[in-house]
Amino acid sequence: MDDSRETHGPKAFVTGFPVKHSRSPLIHGYWLKTLDLPGSYQAHEVAPEGFADFIVSLRSGSAGFVGGNITIPHKEMAFKLADQPDELSEELGASNTLWLKDGKILATNTDGRGFTANLDERRPGWDRHDRVVVLGAGGASRAVIQAVRDRGFKEIHVVNRTVERAQELADRFGPKVHAHPTAALAEVITGAGLFINTTSLGMDGEAAPTIDFSPMLSDAVVTDIVYVPLKTSILAQAEEQGFAIVDGLGMLLHQAVPGFEKWFGRRPVVDETLRALIIADM
Ligand code: ATR
Repeated sequence: MDDSRETHGPKAFVTGFPVKHSRSPLIHGYWLKTLDLPGSYQAHEVAPEGFADFIVSLRSGSAGFVGGNITIPHKEMAFKLADQPDELSEELGASNTLWLKDGKILATNTDGRGFTANLDERRPGWDRHDRVVVLGAGGASRAVIQAVRDRGFKEIHVVNRTVERAQELADRFGPKVHAHPTAALAEVITGAGLFINTTSLGMDGEAAPTIDFSPMLSDAVVTDIVYVPLKTSILAQAEEQGFAIVDGLGMLLHQAVPGFEKWFGRRPVVDETLRALIIADM
């Protein structure tokens, strides 16, 4: 990117601790370049003890940023310290996207929108059934549960090794969400139209359980929010068993869209070149 484009125009950041593995600079840098917009997007590492000060400098304008993305471990603090978190963040208790408006920090969480936009793009009709199984009850599963509930799924079954964590999410997200121990998977998968892995099971080096997807509806979709490798062993098993699969890379790309639009004023497109760029960097 040429210097003039970087030194002029709005500046945005991604902050986390550590932040060097974040792919967000690659994504936003690609969009700035292809849309030929002035501005810059940079990784900005902030340790937990410095995060509150960083937010103060963001609000006052002294940091020089118009907004940015928040990643692990700062999403909860970002939500708490923002002046106007939206309803999505309120329910999740976490924000991943901030922007300044009239001296106030506004906040949202775009992970759920990234999840649904990825499926809309790659498997239209993915939301036609009532029953969904969500494997895992960690931080990453929250936005996914909120998204499928808001999309209209009527029965959301959260299956987790530690059933208490699944129960916490059922309590948080309302009566459509049900908690189950892993042993109940075979039962709850019956008749499901969507299966979502939100755990690290099946990532490189992680042992993945063998799952029999056959009791799902024949046109069910299986998706994973992990994207390294692109085809996790859970997705590979589902494909072998004849089910449609969607990998998690598009969720990463689509969750970045609303922030870019806020900071730089144009709605960017998730295209195959961007996908290829990220895959080449993996
Ligand atoms: P994240 O924020 O990425 O979701 P997390 O909060 O640590 O990370 O949650 C990880 C999820 O993967 C949890 O659902 C976890 O199950 P527990 O709640 O029982 O810990 C699940 N998980 C991780 N390793 C697992 C394993 N070996 N077997 C079963 N579940 C596992």
